[in-house]
Amino acid sequence: MPTIPMAQLPRAIDKAYVPPVKCQGIKTALVPFILQSIRWEGDGRWIEPFLGSGVVLFNALPERAVVSDVNPHIIDLYRGIHSGDITVDAVRAHLEREGERLRQTGPGADESYYYEVRDRFNKEGDPLDFLFLNRSCFNGMIRFNKKGAFNVPFCRKPERFRKAYVTRITNQVAALTDRMAGRDWTFLCRDWRQALASCRPDDFVYLDPPYIGRNTGYFNTKWPHKEADELAHLTRQLPCGAALSMWKKTQQRQNAHIPQSWSWAVERTSDHFYHVGATEDLRNAVVEALLITPGFEAPIP
Ligand SMILES: C[S@@+](CC[C@H](N)C(=O)[O-])C[C@H]1O[C@@H](n2cnc3c(N)ncnc32)[C@H](O)[C@@H]1O
Repeated sequence: MPTIPMAQLPRAIDKAYVPPVKCQGIKTALVPFILQSIRWEGDGRWIEPFLGSGVVLFNALPERAVVSDVNPHIIDLYRGIHSGDITVDAVRAHLEREGERLRQTGPGADESYYYEVRDRFNKEGDPLDFLFLNRSCFNGMIRFNKKGAFNVPFCRKPERFRKAYVTRITNQVAALTDRMAGRDWTFLCRDWRQALASCRPDDFVYLDPPYIGRNTGYFNTKWPHKEADELAHLTRQLPCGAALSMWKKTQQRQNAHIPQSWSWAVERTSDHFYHVGATEDLRNAVVEALLITPGFEAPIP
């Protein structure tokens, strides 16, 4: 088999860039492992059908990308930053103004301003309100109910948008604006099947679907076994390389889906800890797998 030249992906990342949007299952800690494990020439497009926070794209920094998610609010926000319609100044002004109104409803007050913004967002869908809610809701979660309404409760910190926090978020947006500048990236709201159907031989696909069998609520989505199997089947038939992130095992359980549906792929693994409490023994150890189309795995360093 001819040698594929080394990837143009930034392979040695010590510390990942952290994006402004938070979501459950965010891969910040796994970004160095993911990018070091993939071999891709970078001639085609980076296709990412389950974008979430975008942390993998924003660290991979391909020249061309078509990325998507079923959640239109993530896409609207990032599309706005990419096009320049959403500026750093607009983000700062929004968070300062709305943060001040939030502060006036506490401490010990009724927290009503968070819920006012949430109602307004569910009617009007303003991307800056989405960012405000995402950075002040419980655990930085993204969850929508069956009617498509954002329903995560308040984190119960009326002082949430203190100066340092607003600066941190606006710095994340400023750094993202720089990362996006001049890059041919397209943000689409669409189902993963449409994304896979659009792939060409030079492209590379990074996949990070929801946890199997859980109603994740990301955007009122379920991820049943049948859909997970379909994803594995269609990925194998792609004209280009792909890599999928998935948990492999914990101390208690093995993920049976990997041997069942991904035995054709090259597997790389990384130990990962999810912090569920303050002390060492409350950390949940998970082995995370990256399942890669044969020929697209980087040599082991
Ligand atoms: C595990 S998260 C991705 C996390 C992301 N890699 C990160 O590091 O932030 C899964 C994403 O898939 C999206 N999603 C769920 N069902 C989908 C579908 N049918 N098609 C496209 N995206 C979907 C969710 O909205 C969510 O953003």
